[in-house]
Amino acid sequence: MPDESIDRCSPATRQWVDEAIRRVQADANRSADTHLHVFPLPEEWGIDLYLKDESVHPTGSLKHRLARSLFLYGLVNGWITEGTTIVEASSGSTAVSEAYFARLLGLDFVTVVPRKTSPQKIELIERYGGRCHYVDIPIEMYAAAERVAADNGGHYMDQFKYAERATDWRGNNNIAESIFEQLAMERFPAPEWIVVGAGTGGTSATIGRYTRYHRHATKLAVVDPENSAYFPGWATGAGDYATGMPSRIEGIGRPRIEPSFVPGVIDLMIPVPDAASMAAMRHLYDVTGLRAGGSTGTNLWGVWHLVARMLAEGCRGSIVTLICDGGERYAGTYYDDDWLAAQGLQPEKHYAAIERLLATGHWSPP
Ligand SMILES: Cc1ncc(COP(=O)(O)O)c(C=O)c1O
Repeated sequence: MPDESIDRCSPATRQWVDEAIRRVQADANRSADTHLHVFPLPEEWGIDLYLKDESVHPTGSLKHRLARSLFLYGLVNGWITEGTTIVEASSGSTAVSEAYFARLLGLDFVTVVPRKTSPQKIELIERYGGRCHYVDIPIEMYAAAERVAADNGGHYMDQFKYAERATDWRGNNNIAESIFEQLAMERFPAPEWIVVGAGTGGTSATIGRYTRYHRHATKLAVVDPENSAYFPGWATGAGDYATGMPSRIEGIGRPRIEPSFVPGVIDLMIPVPDAASMAAMRHLYDVTGLRAGGSTGTNLWGVWHLVARMLAEGCRGSIVTLICDGGERYAGTYYDDDWLAAQGLQPEKHYAAIERLLATGHWSPP
C-alpha cells in the first residue's frame, strides 16, 4: 500500500521553531523579576500596601509577559514559523512588547492602530522595528488585522482572544506566582486583596485562577474606568454588554466584553471616575517619586477604597496592586495640566480625599 502520510512540518521548520523558543526563553532568563515596592501606610493601621512594578520590564509594561506568552503559544501551536508576519490590533503596550519579540525572532511585525494614535506610541512601536497600519474608526481595528494577516500569510496574535489561554494560570512564573513569592517573608504573605484593571482581562483571569488553584483566601478586585463595558457587564451578568465608547485610561476599559475577561474569578468590581485615576496617579508620584501611567492610578483609587473598607471592618492584612507601565509615555497627556483641562478632568477633590484618608483614616470620596 502506497505511503499517503503527509509531512506537515519539515525538519528545517522544527529547527527554526526550537531556536525561536530558545530565544524567547533566553530573554526571560536574562530578565530579573519585577520589583514589589512598599507604599508606606500608618503602622497602627495593620495594613501593608505593595506595588508590583511592571514598568521595569524591557518593554516598559505588564504586556511584556503577555507578549512572551502569546509568542510561545503561537510557536507551539505551529501558527508562527520562519518568515511569518506577526499582526496585532493594538496601539498600546501590547504592540510595543510584541514588536520587541518579533524583532528577537527576525520576524516582521505589523500592528493596526487608530489614525489618531499619539506620535509617542508610534515611535515606541517603530523603535522595535514594528510597522503601523492605520484605520480611521477604532472599532475597525480587529477586522483590519484579520485582513492584514490574511493578505500577508501572517498570524493575527489577537490578544483579546488568546490572553487568558496563552498564560499559564497554575504558575510558570506568571505575575501571581511572582507576587506570592515576593510576599513570602512579609507579615501578611497572603494578601487580603489584589487589585488590577482589565484591558484584555488576561491579568485578572491569571491572578484569579492562580489564587483559587493554590487555595489562597486572597480576593480579587477589578477596577474599571468610565465608558467601559466591564463593570456594568459584570454587575448585571450580561456577557454581551457593550457601551461602544472608548476608555480615556490607556490599556484598560473596553467598549465591549472581550473574550479573555473571566467574570467568574472576580470577587469585586470598582468603577473609577477618570478624574480619580488622574488624582491617584499624581498622588503616587508626589509621595513616592514613582511615575506611572493612568491605569495605575485607577488601580490605586480602588486600593484606597479597600483600605478604607478594611479600616472600617478592623481587618488587618496586605493589599497588592500593579504599576502597569511607566508615566514617561503620558508626559503630553495625563501629566499635562492643559490636557487634563481640555478633557474636563479636575482631579483636585479626589486628590484631597486620598490625602484626608492617609492623614485621618476617614474616606469620603467626592
Ligand atoms: C497600561 C496597561 N494597564 C493595564 C492593562 C490591563 O491588562 P490586561 O490586558 O491583562 O487586562 C493594560 C492592557 O493592555 C495596559 O496596557
